[in-house]
Amino acid sequence: MTGRGPFSADYPFEPHFMDVGGANMHYIDEGESGEDGVTFLLLHGNSTWSYQYRNIIPHLLPLGRCVAPDLIGHGKSDKPDIDYRYLTHYGYVEKFIDQLGLKNIVLVLHDWGGGIGLNYAMSHESNIRGIALWETFVRTFESWDDWPQDLVEGFKAFRDKDTGWDLIVNKNVFMEEVLPYGIHRKLSKEEMDAYLEPHADPKNRKMLYVWPQELPIEGEPADNAKVIDDYVAKLGQSQVPKILFWAKPGAIVPEETVRLCEERFPNLESVFLGESGHYIAEDYPHEIGEKIVDWVKGFG
Ligand code: BEZ
Repeated sequence: MTGRGPFSADYPFEPHFMDVGGANMHYIDEGESGEDGVTFLLLHGNSTWSYQYRNIIPHLLPLGRCVAPDLIGHGKSDKPDIDYRYLTHYGYVEKFIDQLGLKNIVLVLHDWGGGIGLNYAMSHESNIRGIALWETFVRTFESWDDWPQDLVEGFKAFRDKDTGWDLIVNKNVFMEEVLPYGIHRKLSKEEMDAYLEPHADPKNRKMLYVWPQELPIEGEPADNAKVIDDYVAKLGQSQVPKILFWAKPGAIVPEETVRLCEERFPNLESVFLGESGHYIAEDYPHEIGEKIVDWVKGFG
């Protein structure tokens, strides 16, 4: 059983573009934050784009402005020839927030969008009103034993110099297999096409290849592991309200990681949704949207 739907394939948002560090970044910018109101900043991760927030944003609009960029190399944003490393994406997003002058932000975070957003939150805490998150980097992975066991073989192959490029770039395995595997309902053809389109040309798949190389597993890459360990430590001291959505079996935030977060992070509410994998927003968009609204109304 997954969420209740309806699961609209429509993406009824005006396109906005902004030059960020020489690349054109596409973003959704809908609604008003009003005086003292919040701005929701929704950050996606690997193999998705702002499309994954299409059924969540309508719930949030009565409460504030909704801004959802496509990371450089993803969705409708430019796809320049850059290294596509985690901290490179972080630099673009930090500039994007600064250039738009976003204030009083409620972060809505998934996957690497969480790696970026949580690092931003712990570096600019006074600008953050709350953090909603799921299936993202709330820890590093000391060994492959900490990685979801059903994904170990696949991700080892993605990180292997002999096989990773062929699987992700030539065979498009991340988009065609990993993405649908992590969603427990079957996406419609229109939805699947919306995800596949930005990476239809193999020339636009380097970014998909780089993400698995960036995962902080067994201490590598060391720069990423340090940034994530540092922001996790700061989250343990932060009173910013946090809401963690989770599902079973989930992937990178299974139940035992949820329990760790409950112990370690102050002011955290955890919300169990039901069955899903890594891409929970595609299974429970309305439940997530409604719950975020109730939670933000409780800020007072
Ligand atoms: C990731 O990119 O972090 C990821 C993607 C799919 C499943 C698990 C993790």
